Amino acid sequence: MKIWICPGSFDPVTMGHIDIIKRASKMCDHLIVAIGVNDGKKATFSFEERKQFILKSIKGLKNVEVDVFEGLLIKYAELKGATAIVKGLRAVSDFEYELQMALLNKRLNAKIETVFLMTSINYSHLSSRAIKNIASNGGEIKGLVPDAIHDDIYEKLKEGETK
Ligand code: PNS
Repeated sequence: MKIWICPGSFDPVTMGHIDIIKRASKMCDHLIVAIGVNDGKKATFSFEERKQFILKSIKGLKNVEVDVFEGLLIKYAELKGATAIVKGLRAVSDFEYELQMALLNKRLNAKIETVFLMTSINYSHLSSRAIKNIASNGGEIKGLVPDAIHDDIYEKLKEGETK
């Protein structure tokens, strides 16, 4: 059984993420979409909200599971018996950071590979940060996030403002 991990902040999940998740799910037997903590980013949505957003967006993908992890990604991958970590690359600007992460993870466990998929051209300009920025300023994010979570994002952002 070939288990892969697709890690990220997913704050929130975008059409770019979904494209990578769908393609990666065809390359392994079981894909775990793992929501983790990126020390460099302050999350807007809670782990549970992010998990629900992803679950609502991937209905129909039978070999995909969504989970949350804390601590090191490589430890989590070991725990799950994964053989690879899969990430999307949008542009050259992603490369330096992703290369560093891949090399560090390789150093921590040489048996687990990092696999990169190039983001589809339609989504190469997308980021969770941009989506939050557009939505919280009253802009339209249709087509940038899965339809199933479009309204939820506006609602949760509004709830966050009033907290
Ligand atoms: O979507 P992101 O923000 O690029 O995801 C980054 C994430 C969460 C996958 C990354 O920050 C991560 O792996 N965090 C867990 C902590 C860890 O393993 N850090 C060391 C990596 S060398």
